[in-house]
Amino acid sequence: MPSRSVLITGGAGFIGSHLGQQLLARGDRVRVLDNLDPFYAVELKRRNLAALAAAGGERFEFLEGDLREAAACRRAVDGVEVVVHLAALAGVRPSIQDPVRYLDVNVTGTQVLLQQIDDQAVRVVFGSSSSVYGGNTKVPFAESDPVDRPVSPYAASKKAGEVLSYTWHHLRGNPVVCLRFFTVYGPRQRPEMAIHQFARHITDGTEIPFFGDGSSRRDYTYVDDIVQGITAAMEVDRPYAIYNLGGAATTSLAELVQLLERALGRPARRKLLPDQPGDVPITCADVSLAARELGYRCTTPLAAGIERFCRWYLDEKREGRVL
Ligand SMILES: NC(=O)c1ccc[n+]([C@@H]2O[C@H](COP(=O)([O-])OP(=O)(O)OC[C@H]3O[C@@H](n4cnc5c(N)ncnc54)[C@H](O)[C@@H]3O)[C@@H](O)[C@H]2O)c1
Repeated sequence: MPSRSVLITGGAGFIGSHLGQQLLARGDRVRVLDNLDPFYAVELKRRNLAALAAAGGERFEFLEGDLREAAACRRAVDGVEVVVHLAALAGVRPSIQDPVRYLDVNVTGTQVLLQQIDDQAVRVVFGSSSSVYGGNTKVPFAESDPVDRPVSPYAASKKAGEVLSYTWHHLRGNPVVCLRFFTVYGPRQRPEMAIHQFARHITDGTEIPFFGDGSSRRDYTYVDDIVQGITAAMEVDRPYAIYNLGGAATTSLAELVQLLERALGRPARRKLLPDQPGDVPITCADVSLAARELGYRCTTPLAAGIERFCRWYLDEKREGRVL
């Protein structure tokens, strides 16, 4: 495969930094556009960027800038062959507190970025989310299922991103792939996400927020599998397509906590809380389309991935790094 020149928006974050590492390791040029949003510790993002700079040397470039600013986006897209658009405000619950900001970044920001791409050959991969399926109870979730009832502003913003990128593809002709990620985890996972947050509470001996009766189920996907799906999507020969990228298995909240207890060697203290607005009872990906067209394979079972995550977490804690 020829080496590529790739823009990763949100590349200082969790998924984007893993993607950047993989692309730099295979010889690509990587540019990151990220505004180092303080949603979680900026030190984590700076550490991710330092690792990318060390791995990439002159093949890596960081532009600090905001997605909503046309000039920053124009500079960022200049000369690249592929744009992997991962910059966003992520997280369901905070989007309910501050919907306008979420829509501003995730929807307006996506439109501003797309508008700056004037080379028709540039491919776009958009990081969407399983949350677009809302309260879908038909499992597994297939790309052809209806997604017009998202249950949080975050989910609505991701659905809007898919729709806007279709409109842009229709008008401009550039190929676009939207990838619906199902709960991604692994080293450097966002600190507010359940696995990371639970690991912190279990090791500190504090209570984990345990929502509902523990029966809600999630499809968890190890970050390396997501990166493999993104790199395949960068090459797929389709004008506009949407694919699920998931672990294709579902795990209850109660089982997840048990896996973490085992990997961390400590019992969890559970604080029982009611179900939260915006939460969905189940997510479960049908990945057969991604398997057929992208060669996507989920290679990391949850128990193995949780062990890797916990090893990373304990190492970071031992070294006294911010988590
Ligand atoms: N992690 C998951 O489980 C998951 C699941 C589904 C979808 N996604 C999507 O994948 C993408 C990456 O998620 P992540 O978990 O790596 O999140 P992350 O928060 O670690 O990364 C997002 C990055 O975007 C940057 N950003 C935010 N607003 C920006 C702006 N206005 N301009 C420029 N940069 C901005 C942030 O600083 C951050 O570094 C997001 O689009 C998210 O919605 C993630």
